[in-house]
Amino acid sequence: MNILVTGGAGYIGSHTCLSLLEAGHDVCVADNFSNSKEAPLSRIQEITGRRLQFYRIDLTQKASLSRVFESHRFDAVIHFAGLKAVGESVRVPLAYYYNNIVGSLVLFELMGAYGVKNIVFSSSATVYGEPEKVPIQESFPVCPTNPYGRTKLYIENILRDLYAADPQWNIAILRYFNPVGAHPSGRIGEDPNDIPNNLMPFISQVAVGKQPALFVYGNDYPTHDGTGVRDYIHVMDLAEGHVHALNRLRADPGLATYNLGTGRGASVLEMIAAFEKASGKPIPYKIASRREGDIAVCYADPALAEKELGWTAKRGINEMCEDAWRWQSKNPDGYT
Ligand code: NAD
Ligand code: UD1
Repeated sequence: MNILVTGGAGYIGSHTCLSLLEAGHDVCVADNFSNSKEAPLSRIQEITGRRLQFYRIDLTQKASLSRVFESHRFDAVIHFAGLKAVGESVRVPLAYYYNNIVGSLVLFELMGAYGVKNIVFSSSATVYGEPEKVPIQESFPVCPTNPYGRTKLYIENILRDLYAADPQWNIAILRYFNPVGAHPSGRIGEDPNDIPNNLMPFISQVAVGKQPALFVYGNDYPTHDGTGVRDYIHVMDLAEGHVHALNRLRADPGLATYNLGTGRGASVLEMIAAFEKASGKPIPYKIASRREGDIAVCYADPALAEKELGWTAKRGINEMCEDAWRWQSKNPDGYT
């Protein structure tokens, strides 16, 4: 298939482009590089020995995006492009609503106009807010607690309305849990712009000496060791989930929503221990107070994705940490 990948230069997008090329698909990336660089795109081509095309384009700019549709015949779109920092979304909500929602509206409008009605959309487990129980199933109530999460839910609902109005659309909404790790080559990985907010990139930077110590946000949660529990999923498993979702759109059209997680939870202290083992480096940490907005436990029930997409996450936390460490130690300053 010929796939347009929006946000394809970013963390999850770049790994997915690699999996798509390896699966034999043709890839065209549209990215404004607001949170990424061009380097991963050339490295993907080196790793796979295949070419991809890319356009430096902001999705909110309809005329520019229209020219991309004019020049290609896409079979499907994978839509990653968006802003994703929860804390920032609380500080500058309009920037998040504008970028994520207007960008999506422009994209969907052009897809309709050019007859490209197959889409895989990047949503997030954040749409569930604080779940009443775990594991989380797709049918659970949704109640995001921050502007970023609300943009994800609104875009999901826009897609549902689009499908209701025109059932020719084929839509896979993927709700990711906590993507971590990197391609095993160590050539592409997560490259946060500032001091990382998320656990895994922060631990990686402590291991490589860029941060002195990790703050563990709370050890008084009702979990086995008191620290927060999450469903960490290897980014290559996540990438492969998109290839399965595309196959599903072709084989069984319609609209469906899937959790992409492992179904297993790991605590902050377990992740620290796994990273120390993988890297051979000590990870000094201090217990700090809880981070506002954090929940105690969050992990997926991934049974629907297994049943309908034929996909399960194969890689465990040791592999996630080994691959994250290979990327971080080979590229201590990221892509720069
Ligand atoms: P990322 O920031 O690394 O990648 C997003 C890419 O989109 C970047 O390359 C950025 O430059 C681009 N982009 C942003 N706005 C754009 C616009 N208006 N036009 C063109 N390009 C634009 O993020 P990621 O971690 O790879 O996440 C990809 C998607 O998955 C996002 O939609 C994110 O919300 C979602 N998601 C991420 C996580 C996570 O923890 N990383 C979890 C759940 C869902
Ligand atoms: C964050 C986002 C969420 C997004 C998810 C996916 C927030 C509030 N939420 O959630 O919207 O869907 O990433 O990637 O940002 N931790 C520490 N010290 C740190 C960083 C994190 O102890 O320096 C702990 C957290 O308290 C949590 C766990 O590590 O228990 C994971 O944190 P993080 O990686 O930020 O992910 P989420 O909180 O799940």
